[in-house]
Amino acid sequence: MSKKIFSGVQPTGNLHLGNYLGAIKNFVELQNDKANHCIFCVVDLHAITVKQDPKELKNNIRETAATFIASGINPDNNIIFNQSMVSAHSEAAWILSCVSRIGWLNRMTQFKEKAGKDKEKASIGLYSYPVLMAADILLYDATHVPVGDDQKQHLELCRDIAQKFNNDFNAPEFLKVPEPLIQKQFSRIMSLKDGLKKMSKSDPSDLSRINLTDSKDEIVNKIKKAKTDPLPLPNNIDELVERPEAENLLGIYSSLKNKSLQNSIDEFSGKNFSEFKIELSDVLVEKIEPISKKIKELLNDEKYLDTILLEGSKKADIFASKKIKEIKELVGF
Ligand code: TYM
Repeated sequence: MSKKIFSGVQPTGNLHLGNYLGAIKNFVELQNDKANHCIFCVVDLHAITVKQDPKELKNNIRETAATFIASGINPDNNIIFNQSMVSAHSEAAWILSCVSRIGWLNRMTQFKEKAGKDKEKASIGLYSYPVLMAADILLYDATHVPVGDDQKQHLELCRDIAQKFNNDFNAPEFLKVPEPLIQKQFSRIMSLKDGLKKMSKSDPSDLSRINLTDSKDEIVNKIKKAKTDPLPLPNNIDELVERPEAENLLGIYSSLKNKSLQNSIDEFSGKNFSEFKIELSDVLVEKIEPISKKIKELLNDEKYLDTILLEGSKKADIFASKKIKEIKELVGF
């Protein structure tokens, strides 16, 4: 069945292995099915919900587009664009924020995590950010949204917003209620320094993540320093419950090798981490180093990247401006 795919990645620098295994690798697989229509968005409006340096933001927008292409997304067959170039995203976000309920947003765990203790000082944008995300998806009638596990709650909210809009304006099925595409396994890659913490761009320790721009030496060094426990690798999945670092590293290995966790356990059971880490570094270098090299190569050609984003925005705008016109019509503007 043909799917309409939409997903987004924030251009906030340090795109990492979690972004790759949780989302971008899946984007590439989905675009390989010629029946699918795919739109991949550099969500720069989302990025400014926390303070950004304008020059860095500009570079990070290009770097995110370069990462999509370097990872295997073909810009000729799919739309790659940045959100701020299509004004319908901001317009739809406002209208949908008038449909969304404060109580729904108050439940968003990511806002609580990101805002931290001093919620009063967080931007309003950070609070209403999931509404903008719903606008992104609903403007394109996306049927499927590939994301990592941390975006699940935002997608549930998007479904609620779509249903409420359709109800409020007596327009059954006008906004399409999308399905999340979250991998059953390996959809939450954890920090290399703490198996209970998500791998994240904002972790102050660079050793906590493999960046998609890391060199071979950096990857090998980070895996060497990755936290483990004193036991040899386990014999079965149940033993991983109390061993989050072992589970995470085996998960990363399995995902890169397209193997089940059980298969990886069978391969390494009883072996020491030092032995396993050599294999893990090898597969990481094999998969990530070419992406890292390609990103750097693409970044040397800013004109090419800007053209991809501009052309992508023009194509995206055709869908989005039609949908926002219909939305405005329904609202009574
Ligand atoms: P962002 O930019 O934080 O992350 C981009 C994608 O990477 C996934 N991800 C992870 N997956 C597994 N393990 C991790 N440690 C990990 N860290 C990040 C995220 O789940 C995401 O899929 N709000 C979104 C961007 C967005 C969006 C959208 C997504 C805006 N509009 C519309 C889908 C549809 C975000 O901040 O992702």
